[in-house]
Amino acid sequence: MLKGKKIIVGVCGGIAAYKTAYLVREIVKQGGEVRVVMTQMAKQFITPLTMATLSKNPIMVDFFDPENGAWNSHVGLGTWADAMVIAPATANTIAKMANGIADNLLLTTYLSARCPIIIAPAMDLDMYAHPATQQNIDLLKQRGVVVVDPDAGELASGLSGKGRMAEPESIAETIDDVLAQIDTKLKGKRIMVTAGPTYERIDPVRFIGNYSSGKMGYAIAEELAKRGAIVELISGPVKIAAKRKNIIVTKTESAAEMYAAACEIFPKCKGAIMSAAVADFTPSQCADSKIKNKQTMQITLVPTPDIAAAMGKMKQKTQFLVGFALETDHEEINALEKLQKKNLDFIVLNSLRDAGAGFMTDTNKVTIYHRDGVHIAYELKPKAEVASDIVNSIERYIND
Ligand code: CTP
Repeated sequence: MLKGKKIIVGVCGGIAAYKTAYLVREIVKQGGEVRVVMTQMAKQFITPLTMATLSKNPIMVDFFDPENGAWNSHVGLGTWADAMVIAPATANTIAKMANGIADNLLLTTYLSARCPIIIAPAMDLDMYAHPATQQNIDLLKQRGVVVVDPDAGELASGLSGKGRMAEPESIAETIDDVLAQIDTKLKGKRIMVTAGPTYERIDPVRFIGNYSSGKMGYAIAEELAKRGAIVELISGPVKIAAKRKNIIVTKTESAAEMYAAACEIFPKCKGAIMSAAVADFTPSQCADSKIKNKQTMQITLVPTPDIAAAMGKMKQKTQFLVGFALETDHEEINALEKLQKKNLDFIVLNSLRDAGAGFMTDTNKVTIYHRDGVHIAYELKPKAEVASDIVNSIERYIND
């Protein structure tokens, strides 16, 4: 979420500038503050009025306003911003950025900026593929500029190839990721997450399962990945998919499979978040062929391995372990008991008595109980925001 973030949006002269209107709207929708800087050419493609209206701020083009002499301070802008994004970034502006040319307000702002810089190149396929452009982009990357690669597709010239500006949502996501990686201890850390339900087979067509959607665990995996962690996501059968590249998914079905995967992966990780709703019991045997209807039948169930407790036993001093407790009554007592029994560093309690909490919802209401006795009760929020609260707590347990 870009809530409260100050973003400079630099717009160059390219047909993709119309998509930048959507980008500005997306940032503002997420609660970000936007100041738009346009080149003279950009005004030919999208009107300053559109950008000023969407950003809720006057746009800036020149070093000063010729009407009243008001000075547009690029230095002030450059230090104000949390991030600067240039979209579309044309071959011309990219070349000038690479060479330190400062002949417009967008470029002087870029040179003065102390914040992360993101560019979304957009141009014709041959201009993009040209060694000069590629070398300029490489140089900017070496200097820490984050590049949102253009997509391949039909271009304004009528040709088809790589050069189309990335979609506004994907640019906004990159800004979010870049900002999330400042002041985090998670960057480059390998973290394990278990998520979703387990299915315990009765016969080839039936299983014992539960209502877990995996949404909470997947939201935690995305939040960790956004902060630059390498996420080992061990997932039960779910209908959702991980989005970010740095999430490595191991698909499992039963508690036994999830346990085997966790035992192998956990020792390689800095810590783990056990958010899976693991079945506590499994049929003592799985029939080889479909069980035919009978009047009554009995299935003998045997306990599954407690994965969190096993990780609690394996846990080294340098590792952290987080568990969940989904309760219907005596919530606090049960959660604190699990915290101790499974050797967790903290436990995330959600109660099915709270409307909007628990399985299958897009929201959750949690209380986090830390080992040292501290506990924090959070409001009902979207699962992505709950994930951010949980990951903020994890940051406390990473010391190197
Ligand atoms: N857990 C696990 N393996 C199991 C059971 C639970 O890893 N076989 C983990 C869950 O992922 C969660 C925590 O342990 O992080 C607590 O799960 P929960 O089902 O609430 O607790 P149980 O120990 O199963 O206790 P109970 O079902 O009696 O409430």
